[in-house]
Amino acid sequence: MKITVYKFDPSIDAAPYYIDGEVPFKEKMTAMEALLYFHRNIAPVNYDSSCGGRLCGRCAMLLNGEPCMICVTPIEDKDYTFEPLPGYPIIRDLIVDKSVVADKLSNIYNRVRIEPYTEETYNNPKDFDFEHKTDLYALEFCARCGACTAACPVKAMYGDEFAGPMELSAYAYRYLDPLDQGDRLMEAVSAGLFRCIECGKCDEVCAQQDIHHVEIFKYLKEKAIERGIKPSYA
Ligand code: SF4
Ligand code: SF4
Ligand code: FES
Repeated sequence: MKITVYKFDPSIDAAPYYIDGEVPFKEKMTAMEALLYFHRNIAPVNYDSSCGGRLCGRCAMLLNGEPCMICVTPIEDKDYTFEPLPGYPIIRDLIVDKSVVADKLSNIYNRVRIEPYTEETYNNPKDFDFEHKTDLYALEFCARCGACTAACPVKAMYGDEFAGPMELSAYAYRYLDPLDQGDRLMEAVSAGLFRCIECGKCDEVCAQQDIHHVEIFKYLKEKAIERGIKPSYA
């Protein structure tokens, strides 16, 4: 199969370019295995990875235009193009600089506590939403890869006015966390929750298949409407 790879070193290249080569297909091959073969046997390529199994999120990129974590994406015997995840500065080839978004996400994920913990509040958290505990546990496995946000048509349209599904998932995670005391609904609404058109593209590309973005975002919207914090544009 023909593999085509995006190449760009901003320190020396005037513009990005592509290189290609033939990679032998093997049954049950992942996209990362094909890229590794290319790197070792055809031409060196810079790409990021760590866990090899959808935990670190570092291998997210575009495969034939679709964002995915390549370490867990099976491929067929056909041609593929590898390109960097859009929306981030390119460091080199397929490696992008996610530091700004990573910092933002870490801030969202930080649990907010207004009152200090007591034994009572720690062991008997109030308002635990048992109905949505599976969503809470599923969101815990978000690898922060950014594939969902890269795939989101609303993010592409609104840019900074819409945080995108990866950040909204972080707000949802802390909203469902019974020990978090931040106003996560208000934060999610401010981040553009109501701009989500529930198209399901984020669900489609996410490798953590227990994360049901659309259902979670619908639920957050319902809760926001109950509190009367629906924005005027929605
Ligand atoms: S929700 Fe899924 S696609 Fe989005 S960042 Fe998390 S693991 Fe990646
Ligand atoms: S469901 Fe919402 S957040 Fe997900 S891709 Fe569609 S518009 Fe974006
Ligand atoms: S290498 Fe960690 S998610 Fe792919």
